[in-house]
Amino acid sequence: MKSNWIGKIALVVGLLGFLSLGAMQLQGTPQQNPKTNASDLDSFMQLKLEHSKEILEGLATEDYDMIAKGAQALTALSLESAWNVYTTETYLQHSSDFRRSLQIVKEAAKDKNVDRAALGYVNLTVQCLECHRFLRSRAPGLAPSK
Ligand code: HEC
Repeated sequence: MKSNWIGKIALVVGLLGFLSLGAMQLQGTPQQNPKTNASDLDSFMQLKLEHSKEILEGLATEDYDMIAKGAQALTALSLESAWNVYTTETYLQHSSDFRRSLQIVKEAAKDKNVDRAALGYVNLTVQCLECHRFLRSRAPGLAPSK
């Protein structure tokens, strides 16, 4: 059981490293729309990283309140208007998958089920990567609309 858990943490940490690579690549993307206040958007988006670290810390210390708090904060971010830099169907679908994985994390935290919370977190991390991958695949010129 214990080694299982270590395996999961290793997976999560690996994914997180992968994710920061993805985020670095995103940072390298030039802002295509001069009207977009890039630094405001960047700091908004950076908050996702802060809150997902909170979930990871909560998992590592089995602090269910911290897990729930991080997941709730991420859900709230995803419902803010700044989140919707795109309003395409695919972007909205990615956002809803993202919230679904947060729902799993929140339920698991409530049930004090660390295994399910860890799986939810892995799922969440995959959603981060999938949406970023989608963003990178978009043709240049299809810039944020605001
Ligand atoms: C539904 C889509 C979507 C999901 C899911 C998503 N992001 Fe993002 N992310 C974006 C968009 C849009 C940007 C801004 C891209 C740009 O600057 O051109 C961004 C940018 C970022 C940045 C770079 C901010 C900067 O300083 O430039 C980080 C870091 C980041 N996201 C982290 C995360 C993390 C961590 C998760 C998962 C917990 C996540 N994102 C999930 C859409 C998403």
